Amino acid sequence: MGNVSLRIDATRCVHCGKCAWVCPSEILRQEVKGGEIQVHHPEECIACGHCVAVCAAEAIQHSSFPAGSTHPIDYDHLPSPAQLLALMQARRSNRALTNRPVPHEALARIVEAATLAPTATNARLLSFTVVTDPQKLRAVADFTIQVFDRLANLLLNPVVKCLVKPFQPELYEKYAPMFVSLKEAYAKGEDPILRKATALLVIHSPKSNRFGAEEANLAYQNASLMAESMGISQIYMGFVLTAIRQAKKGAFARLLGIDGEVFALMGLGMPAFRYPRAVDHQEQPIHFL
Ligand SMILES: Cc1cc2nc3c(=O)[nH]c(=O)nc-3n(C[C@H](O)[C@H](O)[C@H](O)COP(=O)(O)O)c2cc1C
Repeated sequence: MGNVSLRIDATRCVHCGKCAWVCPSEILRQEVKGGEIQVHHPEECIACGHCVAVCAAEAIQHSSFPAGSTHPIDYDHLPSPAQLLALMQARRSNRALTNRPVPHEALARIVEAATLAPTATNARLLSFTVVTDPQKLRAVADFTIQVFDRLANLLLNPVVKCLVKPFQPELYEKYAPMFVSLKEAYAKGEDPILRKATALLVIHSPKSNRFGAEEANLAYQNASLMAESMGISQIYMGFVLTAIRQAKKGAFARLLGIDGEVFALMGLGMPAFRYPRAVDHQEQPIHFL
């Protein structure tokens, strides 16, 4: 983290040792129970904020967390497990969207939720871009359809087909026909890609971030639950992500003028209605070992 300044205010510290216990980088240490807290190599601090969050005495002065940047947690006001589960059951990819725009404050809250997700070594390398400009949204759908069209043409080339089909039959059973039907639907004025989402949240990160995908999807899930809690629909934009991965490196980022690699995309919109019922899903294996 470079220039972190970290010191213990001896007039406040009660030597409980909790900061040393939770510090993931062993920067704060307590050699003797009840003894002084020492600071070792603060330049290696990852600024996760655990020390300032755990210190009830507010004795830690950390340059990344100046006065006013920590807040008490009221555990009595957290959602109950039942409420959380109900939210997760209610969250669906509702594709019945109206053309009413998602209010800006709601988008801001959804992104705020995304930014609260953890990142590896607290590196916080994700960026969040919200697209609401209808022309840009259209460009995203066009881009996706064009990439799929190129793929379909390539796959259906007789020579390629002859060579590839025996080894990857699913490309011909599933993907080539799907690309063709998406293009046909799009040509008819349907929107099988963005599903008429009026906002697109793009989660991107430098290519060098080796946990970019994991972090983006954790952020996505935070954002999707926040969206559902506000009655806003979200849909994972898997088609767009597939097209991004199949297109020339950086083509999509250039299209939107954003940096880095895209790891997740969320379509957002105001639903025409909410679902009155939750369903029991097909079971997935669960093991307790
Ligand atoms: C990785 C991923 C990619 C997806 N891609 C799309 C997509 O491109 N278009 C779409 O309409 N739904 C997409 N979905 C939504 C899934 O179809 C949906 O989550 C699934 O059917 C379960 O429904 P639910 O989200 O309502 O619970 C995607 C979901 C995931 C997790």
